[in-house]
Amino acid sequence: MPDTAIDVRPAVQAPFDLKALRDEFPILAREVHGKPLVYLDNAATSQTPSRVIDVFNHYYTRYNANIHRGLHTLADEATAAFEGTRARVQAFLNAEDSRQVIFTRGTTEAINLVAQSWGRQNLSAGDEVLISMLEHHSNIVPWQLLAAERGFTLKVIPVDERGALDIRAYRALLSERTKLVAVNHVSNALGTINPIKEMARLAHQQGALILVDGAQAAPHQKIDVQDLDADFYAFSGHKVYGPTGAGVLYGKKALLDSMPPWQGGGEMIKTVSFEPSGTTFAETPHKFEAGTPAIAEVIAMGEALGWVESVGIEAIGQWESALLAHATERVSQIDGLNIIGTAPNKAGVLSFVVDGAHSQDIGLLIDQLGVAIRTGHHCAQPLLHHFGVEATCRASFAAYNTLEEVDTFVAALERVIKMVR
Ligand code: ALA
Repeated sequence: MPDTAIDVRPAVQAPFDLKALRDEFPILAREVHGKPLVYLDNAATSQTPSRVIDVFNHYYTRYNANIHRGLHTLADEATAAFEGTRARVQAFLNAEDSRQVIFTRGTTEAINLVAQSWGRQNLSAGDEVLISMLEHHSNIVPWQLLAAERGFTLKVIPVDERGALDIRAYRALLSERTKLVAVNHVSNALGTINPIKEMARLAHQQGALILVDGAQAAPHQKIDVQDLDADFYAFSGHKVYGPTGAGVLYGKKALLDSMPPWQGGGEMIKTVSFEPSGTTFAETPHKFEAGTPAIAEVIAMGEALGWVESVGIEAIGQWESALLAHATERVSQIDGLNIIGTAPNKAGVLSFVVDGAHSQDIGLLIDQLGVAIRTGHHCAQPLLHHFGVEATCRASFAAYNTLEEVDTFVAALERVIKMVR
């Protein structure tokens, strides 16, 4: 090797014991098609550490019972663990009060809750709701469904050629007609981080509320709902090292108190009667939690947030940025590869297309080499169409990924591209 040859590996190290951290995730030891698993589909769902799986198992082996109902020991223990999780989420989000934490199935259900409860009560013809070009379908379709019923107008904040929100256009779209701004904190398809605090300030100046889809932000950066001044903030447990089926809607207390229930059933009532107006509802947050919730999943989600806190969310975000920088540098050297989404402020998501190679083919073939990435439209079809593509390949990073895994992914990608071209 000539003296001038340089090692492309950046001189960075995870700000935690990466080997010990990986050992906490049993799934990372498995093989796929005879190759060590390289899991880079974390924006779809992240893997789960043993201590979270243990909490889930412990619930079913020791105190499985329905909550808020029984007087027996198991019911008391389950209720205490479930309600205790509200306080964990409160701390995770820096909310003022644990009653501002509503448990949902995930981000999608949280957004639908706001649309069906607050939206149906407050939006009508002449009003405007602003969403952005960067949205996931879960922050588009609930508003389209409601707009068809209530007659308000949905407007879209554009992005620039890098996939960054056009803040000047956002300012111009805001008016006294704007009742709600519904935007993601981080784009799942491109990784763009949006300036939510500034967007909230501008929305509030016009008297509008802001709902933040935080599904892709909560795993990567400290969320402080008070500092952001978000009116609503939603995230999913399964993207923050927890199980599927549990998520959170945070809302400002006065807003939640003013909103009607959106689903009726057990748990959400104070009294039920056949007399006119005889049925009365529970207080926030229980009035939004009809039926038996995903008890074990919620409790395990709380444990996952505890795990994140024990590692340190800033350390996780810092490490993912290092992985993203390394991956971006490496794939940029591949002939005919175009990165979609080059905003200056990005979380650990790398979306790209390759000339002469279909994204689906790349996804299928790279899986044969043990590498899991996502290919497709990432539930963000309008955004992908805006960039003139139907699908991209997307690698997304988590705390447990290594620089070596990034190198394995890039080598596999180069091999696959040669096969399909
Ligand atoms: N919204 C998830 C993703 O981006 C499923 O993959």
